[in-house]
Amino acid sequence: MATAEQIKSLLKSHADHDDGRFYSVALQVAAKEARQGHHKLASDIKSLVERSQKANKIGLTSSKPTPLVKQPKGDLKGLLELTPTSVRRNELVLSADIQERLEQVLIEQRQKDRLAKYGLSARRKLLFTGAPGTGKTMSAAVLATELKLPLYTVVLDNLITRFMGETAAKLRLIFDHIKQTRAVYLFDEFDAIGSQRSSRNDVGEIRRVLNSFLLFVEQDSSESIVLAATNHPELLDKALYRRFDDIIQFEKPGKEQIRMLVQNRLAMLDIASLSWNQITASAKGLSSAEVTRACEDAAKEAVLYHDTKLSTDLILKAIERRKTGNQK
Ligand SMILES: Nc1ncnc2c1ncn2[C@@H]1O[C@H](COP(=O)(O)OP(=O)(O)OP(=O)(O)O)[C@@H](O)[C@H]1O
Ligand SMILES: [Mg+2]
Repeated sequence: MATAEQIKSLLKSHADHDDGRFYSVALQVAAKEARQGHHKLASDIKSLVERSQKANKIGLTSSKPTPLVKQPKGDLKGLLELTPTSVRRNELVLSADIQERLEQVLIEQRQKDRLAKYGLSARRKLLFTGAPGTGKTMSAAVLATELKLPLYTVVLDNLITRFMGETAAKLRLIFDHIKQTRAVYLFDEFDAIGSQRSSRNDVGEIRRVLNSFLLFVEQDSSESIVLAATNHPELLDKALYRRFDDIIQFEKPGKEQIRMLVQNRLAMLDIASLSWNQITASAKGLSSAEVTRACEDAAKEAVLYHDTKLSTDLILKAIERRKTGNQK
């Protein structure tokens, strides 16, 4: 029989329209039945899940491309990339404070017309800062999915050229698109350019490009959502911060978030007897991306070598491996 937790989880994913989680919990129930020797029931549940996934064309990791919106062509080709999104809000694990801030964006965006009647504008220009793998890019995807808007990522390598005038002209093209097509626009990983160029002593140039971008952001009064993400907020001129409606600082996960990340990622296996204190203590200091990857490593090992039996030790081992990987 499914446990009370699993039944609650099934109901919750149904209420949240979270098909991915629903199927993954259902498979967890099937795995449990199989372990108890109820093979017929386990295989019935599995084939029901597979049939229903096929019907909905949703796999656990499938990404649904955004319909009707096309990849930019002409001058914008190579500058803006339409990015498929399928990630949902409840897959994202964040501290209550950051979650509330993102929630606020959704609430205001959904009621933007009501706000406009009173001369108020919904927040739409955000700066995401924080260490790698803490959910900045993922949050951009969640905002787009939740608002049912396409997500465009700006390809910074192609935007930045040696000639400032040319870069500004390209930025203008992008901001024209932002005005014409309501969508979520992500200027991702400024820091990547920063580090690439810094080897050639070009930090000054990056600063100029960033500042020029921020001027465009200030002038933009469109209905699109403009996001900038960086690992190095110190490269930005502090005076320019006020051009954003909100600055969200992403953080590495705390104990509670580590537990949720592990539960989310390993929902397809039996996690009832894990020692959470040990796991959360050991994963402290890892980013959410690293915790997620450690879970994937542990899950693979459980499936391939331990008859799908997951243990605290397997997870601890995977976490340690991620940690030593970091030091290299
Ligand atoms: N807060 C989070 N909740 C759930 N999963 C997360 C979170 N942060 C990261 N992940 C996992 O790690 C992957 C990478 O995260 P993401 O690309 O959002 O990090 P980032 O903050 O944009 O990092 P970078 O600064 O390197 O661009 C995600 O696809 C997801 O699987
Ligand atoms: Mg990112």
